Amino acid sequence: MPPESEILVTGASGMFGRALLKRWASAKKAEGVSLSGRHDTRACDLTSRAAVADLFKKNSRKLVIHAAAYSDVDGCERDPARAHAANALATQNLAQVCGSKNIPLVFISTDYVFDGRKSSAYAEADRTFPINIYGMTKLEGEVHALRCAAPSVVVRTSWLFGAENPNNFVNAILARLRREAVVAVLDDQEDAPTFVEDLAAAVEVIADSLLKKPLRGIFHVCNSGSATRHGMALKMKEWIGRGPARVEKADPGQVKGRLAVRPGHSVLSTKHFESSFGMKLRPWEEALEEYVRSCAS
Ligand SMILES: NC(=O)c1ccc[n+]([C@@H]2O[C@H](COP(=O)([O-])OP(=O)(O)OC[C@H]3O[C@@H](n4cnc5c(N)ncnc54)[C@H](OP(=O)(O)O)[C@@H]3O)[C@@H](O)[C@H]2O)c1
Repeated sequence: MPPESEILVTGASGMFGRALLKRWASAKKAEGVSLSGRHDTRACDLTSRAAVADLFKKNSRKLVIHAAAYSDVDGCERDPARAHAANALATQNLAQVCGSKNIPLVFISTDYVFDGRKSSAYAEADRTFPINIYGMTKLEGEVHALRCAAPSVVVRTSWLFGAENPNNFVNAILARLRREAVVAVLDDQEDAPTFVEDLAAAVEVIADSLLKKPLRGIFHVCNSGSATRHGMALKMKEWIGRGPARVEKADPGQVKGRLAVRPGHSVLSTKHFESSFGMKLRPWEEALEEYVRSCAS
């Protein structure tokens, strides 16, 4: 059996997990798990208590970053049992093992724990009130993570983009801007678009801190500023600077398969993270421009 790495990253085949795992790859400090075992990860269904216990057999783990989720927001409405198992039960399983072995736990959560009715940015202490199954089950996951007997941190973030998911919103819009005359994009949700590479750098700082001293609480971590998907598409059009496309606002009623209601304004205030760790993520426009230019090259 191979040795157990010090850091366990769940959701390691996903968009964020892959970006995070890359940071520790050369030191071989971290091991990644996923449901399928894709992308060189270890296959493990975290909804099984026995399978989770198996990940800790050698007692060498020092930290768990739990990024696994059933993150298909409309899929969660279609299959609430799967959403509950992957987002809440899996977190409970990990929190129990971490608690019993005193292993610090970081749980990656979402702005969807809020209802999106606040006109200013949400602080960590603001009342949560999820309006869809994804948000409800992630909030239940947060409760399990924060009840963990070991030090535990919840990191809430929003609207991720990055190269690790070639089907992400940014790539889809870039492709459409290059081939379609009119690109209609939704304008009904405002949040902070966040580059997975920037989020991974921030989570690494939190992880380093947790390895040195106990910590418990919630931190909002996103790129600075806010935008709607329509606003993001307008910026992308500016940067690619070619193609005939006109960017218009889409009618939410016309979008097929959109079952879940979404928070309208779920911008997260990141002041607590900034003052606690002395780090501020750059504006989303800067991060997105870097990503868009990397896609073009
Ligand atoms: N994407 C966003 O815009 C966004 C916004 C805010 C917060 N978040 C949160 O950020 C985190 C990372 O999101 P992401 O977009 O990178 O996720 P993602 O690309 O959808 O990846 C999900 C990961 O979870 C794994 N997984 C799902 N069910 C599992 C189970 N039962 N047992 C073990 N692994 C399981 C998947 O494995 P397989 O690949 O093998 O299926 C995959 O590795 C999630 O916690 C999400 O809730 C995401």
